[in-house]
Amino acid sequence: MVKEKVLVIGASGQIGVELTLALRRIYGNANVVASDLREENELLKGSGPYVSLDVMNKEMLHVQVIRQNITQIYLLAAILSATGEKNPNLAWHLNMQGLLNVLDIAREEKLHKVYWPSSIAVFGPTSPRQECPQRTIIEPSTVYGISKYAGEFWCNYFFERYGVDVRSIRYPGLISYKSAPGGGTTDYAVEIFHEALDENNYTCFLKEDTYLPMMYMPDAIRATIQLMEAPAKNLTVRTSYNVSALSFSPKEIAAEIKKHIPEFTIRYQPDYRQHIADSWPQSIDDSVAREDWGWKPEYDLSRMTADMLQNLPKQ
Ligand SMILES: NC(=O)c1ccc[n+]([C@@H]2O[C@H](COP(=O)([O-])OP(=O)(O)OC[C@H]3O[C@@H](n4cnc5c(N)ncnc54)[C@H](O)[C@@H]3O)[C@@H](O)[C@H]2O)c1
Repeated sequence: MVKEKVLVIGASGQIGVELTLALRRIYGNANVVASDLREENELLKGSGPYVSLDVMNKEMLHVQVIRQNITQIYLLAAILSATGEKNPNLAWHLNMQGLLNVLDIAREEKLHKVYWPSSIAVFGPTSPRQECPQRTIIEPSTVYGISKYAGEFWCNYFFERYGVDVRSIRYPGLISYKSAPGGGTTDYAVEIFHEALDENNYTCFLKEDTYLPMMYMPDAIRATIQLMEAPAKNLTVRTSYNVSALSFSPKEIAAEIKKHIPEFTIRYQPDYRQHIADSWPQSIDDSVAREDWGWKPEYDLSRMTADMLQNLPKQ
């Protein structure tokens, strides 16, 4: 078996913490280096190596890759949809240059694999709203979506032109209890659990009937690892794969929480994020991911809600 040494960039974020822990279980603690601009997340402390790293500093990144004998990079550092609309220049700059730095180094150092997530935010108001297909009209209206769509084509370009084995998933909104979400439009579906447990009520920044594609973090981690372990010859998409698990509205998740916390109430006060949510599809067709690498989600809304409410208070 080839010995792998993995670098996770953005390891202190919502996905990074859980993905780093999962990768450490596969490759061994010492073989997964966590890195981030901010300090090491509490949940990672003591579980393996950590370096402070800015993905925008290509030289430093390159030095770390060589010094640590890195063979794979998972690039998770990004500005997300809601934060991106507040600072479009920063979102474009980080999301693009960070990716190009990693792809360049992967090419030069002949890394075995690179993982970089895209998002359902690539889709825009002209994409089909239901069961949005893998290949369809893609006209994103947020800077985040534009950066992800351009990023997908850079990944494809580096694969086609230089043979860099870069793989990607268009994540839907991710729901988790371990680390906090980082400024996305689907963050409400995490906040609602915190507020339900702390206050018995929640004021939602989206309208009650806003359906969005979502996924529970254990499914997202499993999807990521499954894609990264799939034989390269099976992969027909080198931009980014649609994956799907759940589609629900704030009203529906509130009703599910009420089954566990009967006194829970919800109010609706839509803000600028409603406009972003309205530009995205409500559900996603992931038949190509199912066909190519056997993707299948495990959590539905009721199983996820029960698991969140059981585990969140322990954090
Ligand atoms: N969370 C979701 O619902 C979701 C949905 C779709 C796609 N994604 C994508 O998944 C990836 C990870 O998302 P997340 O939710 O974990 O985000 P997050 O904001 O929680 O974490 C990103 C991490 O990157 C770090 N970072 C920022 N700038 C950096 C830099 N210059 N150098 C090094 N680290 C830096 C941040 O400190 C943070 O810890 C992103 O590419 C995001 O676009 C996330």
